[in-house]
Amino acid sequence: MKNDSFYSQVLNELAAKNIRRALKPNGTGINFVHNDYLGLKNHPEIAEAAALAYRKWGSGSGGSRLLGGNPEIFERAETELARWKGTEAALLFNCGYSANVGLVSALCNEQTTLFMDKLNHASIVDGYRQSNAKLVRFPHHDTDFLETALKKTSGRKIIYVESVYSMDGDLAPLRDYADLAEKSSALLVVDEAHGEGIFGPDGKGLVHELGLENRVDLVLGTFGKAYGTAGACVWGSRTLIDYLVNKARSFIYSTALPPGVVASMLKAVEVAVRESWRRERALTLAAAFREKMNRNGWNTLKSASQIVPLVIGSSEKCISVSEKLSEKGLWTAAVREPTVPAGTARLRINFTASHQEKDLEMLVSALESWRTEHE
Ligand SMILES: Cc1ncc(COP(=O)(O)O)c(C=O)c1O
Repeated sequence: MKNDSFYSQVLNELAAKNIRRALKPNGTGINFVHNDYLGLKNHPEIAEAAALAYRKWGSGSGGSRLLGGNPEIFERAETELARWKGTEAALLFNCGYSANVGLVSALCNEQTTLFMDKLNHASIVDGYRQSNAKLVRFPHHDTDFLETALKKTSGRKIIYVESVYSMDGDLAPLRDYADLAEKSSALLVVDEAHGEGIFGPDGKGLVHELGLENRVDLVLGTFGKAYGTAGACVWGSRTLIDYLVNKARSFIYSTALPPGVVASMLKAVEVAVRESWRRERALTLAAAFREKMNRNGWNTLKSASQIVPLVIGSSEKCISVSEKLSEKGLWTAAVREPTVPAGTARLRINFTASHQEKDLEMLVSALESWRTEHE
């Protein structure tokens, strides 16, 4: 028998710190966990578009895009998505994780310095780990730090940030990043995983909301979140997209998405553009929740999006509040170390188009009664 004591010891250590992860069946009750921000996951029109495409093209794409897995719907989707966002080109990836890993590792070599926000998603960090780049991780949203670091650095530079940070719900100072990228001739890449579908005209993202579409070199959007389906898309110039087709290993060496998923991506965008109330509701409910919670002294960090963190402190306390809410039919996520720094365990409350005002009221009152019992 193989000796697995090392692995069980690691698991025991995680359990002792209350941070051992385990798969659980989905919670029940009112759902504040999913990233299905526009409430499109069960939209019949989108499921039908996927079903039609599955019938037409079958259940899989048959190979990687470069080796036979390139049915016509992929290029049609990329052309339509590029036209929609006004870029020269677009490229589909299997998911946001593989898009980030592919982008970072392809764009960087040993002559590149990668500047990234300390709170950037694990997929961006993992992309860096596959590259030979030099790395500068700057404190969250600290543009002064970044400016100084850029000035001190020669060679090729890439600034890689997110638009909406998923554990804090706050918005990046994208205008400042665009200015700094121009001043320092750095490439600017923005991951819109949590801004896509929610911000900007027709939900085109925060980059568009701020009028920066011609000042950001590559934008990454995911379809598993606001659009309720799966996959990711990267928008940029023809040259950069062609470069990724040649160099992004997660794109080249992986079976392409099933065509049915691509059909659902396109339909989801169409529905989201038409049903603009969806993004408005998610943002309005989140703002109302923040307002009430802040008035009652809760810490929601600098949230300004559909994602509202409630900082609880210890992992133990955070799990206890989440369990209490669950007993009352409210399903929330307790986010702990290492996803967030120790001591800042939080409930991550996602507002979506599927919520009603009364759901928010129930949540507020359950949180207040937990606090009365515990403090
Ligand atoms: C900022 C960011 N980028 C990328 C991803 C990965 O996207 P996907 O779930 O499509 O792999 C996530 C998912 O949590 C994310 O938060």
